[in-house]
Amino acid sequence: MINLMEPSLWRTQAFINGVWCNARAQKTFAVENPATGEIIAQVADVGVAETREAITAAAQAQLDWAQKTAAERSQLLRSWFNLVMHHQEDLAQILTLEQGKPLAEARGEIAYGASYIEWFAEEAKRIYGDVIAPPSADQRILVIKQPVGVVAAITPWNFPCAMLARKIAPALAAGCTIVAKPAAETPLSALALAFLAQQAGIPAGVINVVTGTDSAAIGAELTENTLVRKLSFTGSTAVGKQLIQQCAADVKRITLELGGNAPFIVFDDADLDAAVAGAMASKFRNAGQTCVCANRFYVHRPVYALFSEKLTLMMQSLLVGNGAEANTTIGPLISLKAIKKVQALVDDAIAQGARIAYQTKLEITQQGYFYPPTLLLDVAADSALTQQEIFGPVAALIPFDTEEDAIQLANNTEVGLAAYCYTRDAKRIKNLSDKLETGMVGINTGLISNAMAPFGGIKQSGWGREGSHYGIDDYVNIKYLCERF
Ligand code: SIN
Repeated sequence: MINLMEPSLWRTQAFINGVWCNARAQKTFAVENPATGEIIAQVADVGVAETREAITAAAQAQLDWAQKTAAERSQLLRSWFNLVMHHQEDLAQILTLEQGKPLAEARGEIAYGASYIEWFAEEAKRIYGDVIAPPSADQRILVIKQPVGVVAAITPWNFPCAMLARKIAPALAAGCTIVAKPAAETPLSALALAFLAQQAGIPAGVINVVTGTDSAAIGAELTENTLVRKLSFTGSTAVGKQLIQQCAADVKRITLELGGNAPFIVFDDADLDAAVAGAMASKFRNAGQTCVCANRFYVHRPVYALFSEKLTLMMQSLLVGNGAEANTTIGPLISLKAIKKVQALVDDAIAQGARIAYQTKLEITQQGYFYPPTLLLDVAADSALTQQEIFGPVAALIPFDTEEDAIQLANNTEVGLAAYCYTRDAKRIKNLSDKLETGMVGINTGLISNAMAPFGGIKQSGWGREGSHYGIDDYVNIKYLCERF
């Protein structure tokens, strides 16, 4: 089924305190290939008891880990990064098999995830404090930064490597230890990463991975156990809100990267070919299953028809299929449930007057959760498609007349993760940069994610930032020392 150059990367047991272990009750759960519906692995289905064990191990390991010098932590992260890149091809194969994205994208995700490890290996050495001018001459004010402690990380299935790496790497750089709960759909990438961390020499207990299907029970333990000092979660806004409530009992710190509903605004002065290329990259990355995917296209009325023609032309080159096959550019969605959700949004938009301008004809013989890339025109500005995350390869185009209309439409949502705009007008760029209510804005680009930049949202898209030099802030406490002489 899969031929790995390094077969030991294929792990199906949980990783607790440096030990690969089965669930106490010997329970397992099936992991499916979304491109074929085949069961590819049976993975340890751990529960509350094992999660508690992992948290205790992380708490015991944390003091020693924090005692290491920044240079030592940096070196171990660097070794992990080197191993991840060395095994990029195997890791990409595992990722495609369990998640479905095309191999080229999977290779990209491994490099993207690894770039967070590399970045935070470097940032580990740059966690600076401060000396502040005191109110009197016999005083000194110092600010030091200390690790938060044990971190719980709950990660999604759409980027099984990168989302985990961008939580574990800053946590470890800061001197925290971690218990990670990957999505049950995609645990294999997380386990392979943990295996490489072990090979890199990261000590037992510093990284723990609990695999399981009872997300509610595991999540409750991760949020209610007082040894855990912080939660970092990537996933839906609905689950994020629930986790906030659960973390309230002992006022845990939280980083939340929640849902998005990115507007993609194209003005009549834009380079339309560049805008179409950006639209393709933003919309169809991971078959549209990305929090920062363009969700709603607002196109200036004078170029609306031309933009949709050009987009249709580009969409005709998309090849839907099994991500493991060389030519595939769009893989399956993660599940049948995902297909049904996308279809319901499309049906609703059509019922409100939208029309399908282009839809790829699927020529797939195998079972699998494929959805055809679809272009919808004349979408009602208030349809569910414009208010919910589509999480599928559907582009919805809506015309607008003025810059202020576009901004108003773009901001008309409860979430605020990413936005994109294409224009050559510097004054307009300034206005959009000021007024778009999102944590990130792509200006004449459809791709904004990288380890150097602060990734995160405002409004109901979450709290905190991941990546960049700001990313470490979420894993340290500030302590102020008031010295008197
Ligand atoms: C996400 O979909 O949550 C993350 C996407 C990215 O890092 O670009």
